[in-house]
Amino acid sequence: MTNRQVTLAERPIGMITPATTNLIETEIPVCKDGEALIKVAMLSIDPTIRTWMNDAPGYLPPIEIGAVIRSSGTGVVIESKTPRYNVGDIVFGSTNWQEYVIADEENKFQVIPSGMGIDLATTMNVLGVTGLTAYFGLLEVGEFKKGDVVVVSGAAGATGSVVGQIAKARGASKVVGIAGGPEKCAEVVEKYGFDVCLDYREPGLRKKLHEVCPKGIDLFFDNVGGIILDDALANIAMHGRFVICGAISQYNAMEKPQGLLNHTMLIMRRGTMKGFIILDFLPRSGEAQLALAGMVLDGSLSHQEHLVQGLENAPDALNLLFSGGNHGKTLVVVDETIKLA
Ligand SMILES: NC(=O)c1ccc[n+]([C@@H]2O[C@H](COP(=O)([O-])OP(=O)(O)OC[C@H]3O[C@@H](n4cnc5c(N)ncnc54)[C@H](OP(=O)(O)O)[C@@H]3O)[C@@H](O)[C@H]2O)c1
Repeated sequence: MTNRQVTLAERPIGMITPATTNLIETEIPVCKDGEALIKVAMLSIDPTIRTWMNDAPGYLPPIEIGAVIRSSGTGVVIESKTPRYNVGDIVFGSTNWQEYVIADEENKFQVIPSGMGIDLATTMNVLGVTGLTAYFGLLEVGEFKKGDVVVVSGAAGATGSVVGQIAKARGASKVVGIAGGPEKCAEVVEKYGFDVCLDYREPGLRKKLHEVCPKGIDLFFDNVGGIILDDALANIAMHGRFVICGAISQYNAMEKPQGLLNHTMLIMRRGTMKGFIILDFLPRSGEAQLALAGMVLDGSLSHQEHLVQGLENAPDALNLLFSGGNHGKTLVVVDETIKLA
């Protein structure tokens, strides 16, 4: 038996192509004292993986050429030489794009509690990185207040769909989504319960934002950046807060990022714009997971997972995020037999 891994072959320009990655086979790592061997179940496919492929400054160093693609994921402990993990534990952490990974002092995993009645894919979605990002980004970074007019870009996606639902549940006066195409916009309203959704592929987004938010946007949760952020800035309310969570429209074009024209509106309207990285909130993940698990279990939080089968299809799964081909949280199933009890 071998360990299949996906490594970075060359730095992509624009979308990743078959030449960007290599699928290789290596020996399964040997589990030493103080370590555990994990068989990978599912990979979390996140837009940030694309940024790590660039040779550019970021919050983590670029992935080296030849290295296994960095990624979080879940798996099951199949051998343990440490009291930290028991064989059979389902764990979450830095699995990277491969079938087996060692947990040690440098690469620690979190044991996922069983018996909650929430399956592994949902756990990786709502209780994983994107759910936590939505929760802390809206409530802490955005300082959400009851009665806020909230606008969310990337509204049909994993992060955006949860942001809008939390805002609605906590008393936003209006929740507006922005998404690509009529099908996604229908999903945002019908499945996720936003009040309205605007299709950014249609012309006139700036004007339409004014029509649906005549008094301006109190809280803009931005997953996209570029022209959508600029159109939202033109509509900021007095003392509006802009949460810069992501800029997916720019990740494939980092050599020539798009600047903003309407940033002077921050001055006119005394607004703020604040970026954040979810890693800074991880020590507090328990409080968010408790709240979000409650919403999943009482049925007040809709969610969907876009499952792509097979480690070898991880690069295609990453591209789905950039073409908008994903519906909900994108996950790659590496071993479908591993389940959360
Ligand atoms: N700050 C943090 O710590 C943190 C943590 C997690 C995620 N994020 C960020 O949150 C954002 C969403 O991530 P996610 O994992 O939840 O992905 P996602 O929203 O599930 O998927 C990405 C979506 O982005 C949209 N998109 C792609 N290219 C676009 C473009 N050029 N213009 C407009 N929309 C575009 C597509 O939706 P449409 O079909 O609607 O176009 C696509 O479905 C990303 O920017 C990510 O980097 C940040």
